[in-house]
Amino acid sequence: MTQPLWSAVDGYLADVLVGHDPVLEAALADSAAAGLPAIAVAPNQGKLLFLLARAARARRILEVGTLGGYSTIWLARGLEPGGRVVSLELEEKHARVARANLARAGLTGAVDVLVGPALASMERLAAERAGGAPPFDLVFLDADKEGYPAYLEWSLRLARPGALIVADNVVREGAVVDRASRDAMVRGVRAFLEQLGRDPRVSATALQTVGVKGHDGLAIAVVNGVGDGRGSAGA
Ligand code: SAH
Ligand code: DHB
Ligand code: MG
Repeated sequence: MTQPLWSAVDGYLADVLVGHDPVLEAALADSAAAGLPAIAVAPNQGKLLFLLARAARARRILEVGTLGGYSTIWLARGLEPGGRVVSLELEEKHARVARANLARAGLTGAVDVLVGPALASMERLAAERAGGAPPFDLVFLDADKEGYPAYLEWSLRLARPGALIVADNVVREGAVVDRASRDAMVRGVRAFLEQLGRDPRVSATALQTVGVKGHDGLAIAVVNGVGDGRGSAGA
């Protein structure tokens, strides 16, 4: 027993710990009705994002990869009062669906969905940061996996020391162990993880997960402070 049992356990955990929320369920239903792929984070993963935002007391959250805004709603609900999520999305159609889902969630004022290639948006956000805009307290990477290494570099310019960087889909049914993979997504994820492991600016780990989304994983990093002496593989 593999996938059926993983899905049953996710269903149980979501029933007991997450509950049913009409706004989140409508966001998924309207995303599907609009033809968006069913690749949003699972309910228990969405709640994890919410809990991480709460634990970090996040005022500014950057999301890379909005899709229909399901994870965006979870992140925005975890913001400190008055906080903001900036969510980056390549596809105008996805952004349109997301904005409608965010409006139904009462979160229009808490989220900016920026349309275009995430790299270009991050470059603009870095210019704003250089001009005095406040840094991000949490970054959630969930767009094209090829882009993860570059998204990490930009995230490190945009996030404050102590910020969390969370990345979805870092195991890909185990394909991540294939060092000879020709798959651009696998190569992107491997380069990202190896960079996390060696870069003294972050302390990081990753966990493989099973559940309704199959066998995958999440990486979590904290941005180290200047001179706090905590290196990549160390504490
Ligand atoms: N975070 C969402 C799922 C995101 S799916 C959730 O859990 O609910 C990945 C999204 O990244 C898709 O909407 C896709 O259009 C977007 N994407 C892909 N390449 C991108 C790029 N270069 N820049 C910005 N967004 C991109
Ligand atoms: C895919 C992307 C995701 O972000 C995800 O969580 C699952 C699958 C994909 O592109 O196949
Ligand atoms: Mg994902």
